[in-house]
Amino acid sequence: MPEPDARLTATPTDGPVGAFVSGVDLSRPLDPATATALHTALGDYGVLFFRDQDITPEQHIAFAQALAPIVINRFFTPVAEHPQIAEMRKEADQKNNIGGAWHADHSYDEIPATGSILVARELPPTGGDTLFASMYAAYDSLPEATRAQIDGARALHSSRHVFGAGAAHLTDTENNDQGDRYRNPEAATQDVWHPVVIRHPISGRKALYVNPDFTVRIDGLPEDESAALLEELFAHARRPEHIYRFVWAPGSIAFWDNRATWHLALNDYHGHRRLMHRITLEGVALSG
Ligand code: SIN
Repeated sequence: MPEPDARLTATPTDGPVGAFVSGVDLSRPLDPATATALHTALGDYGVLFFRDQDITPEQHIAFAQALAPIVINRFFTPVAEHPQIAEMRKEADQKNNIGGAWHADHSYDEIPATGSILVARELPPTGGDTLFASMYAAYDSLPEATRAQIDGARALHSSRHVFGAGAAHLTDTENNDQGDRYRNPEAATQDVWHPVVIRHPISGRKALYVNPDFTVRIDGLPEDESAALLEELFAHARRPEHIYRFVWAPGSIAFWDNRATWHLALNDYHGHRRLMHRITLEGVALSG
């Protein structure tokens, strides 16, 4: 078995989630041993941050394909001539951003995506940071009684209210937000059950797997009790001690794991453009 690139190092952030990776040039082909090392680090840290990278869309695609097959997001407008890359864009005259609520990408899919690789293409002068929350830390710090209540439970995830026909970005006619950033509302029809607590497929650690954007109910509970328990879990998970704030700079790339983290794109740069390119990677079925 070849060794991973000897210069590759992962230095944990000073927060509960994430590590900065250095010693790898993502514009160059990734050898299989380095790809394996990145997967292991992803399972351990939840998010990998890279600085000072200079990659074209083609190199972004090649990096992603060296890690896993690409999943094309059916709801975001793709980058012209690169259907594998979703465009995450907020124009200077738009009010709402993409990803401005806590979520884990693609949890509404039966086989949820492993993670996403986000490349900064155009940044506002200040602001537009991304918050990441550790779902390992969220689970580990739950009261014993709550852990006992949710271990073995399952929850329903849906994309209908976010990307479907009645979604806010389609019905909000006051703001120039609905525009051309989303597509295929008719494809937002599937609902899927996942364990509330999963065994992470890479690390084997337990992680909380519900999120405010896409998780709509917990199985076997009356509607009001399900809503109350979900809100309790969400409020717990988004506590400051579970969160790391990533400040983007030109050349920054974040590669996160959707099973171990949530993320939220801060919307604090009105009047400026922010453009990011995202590729999402195929995952595996989740189990408790
Ligand atoms: C996303 O939610 O995938 C986008 C995050 C960001 O733009 O910072």
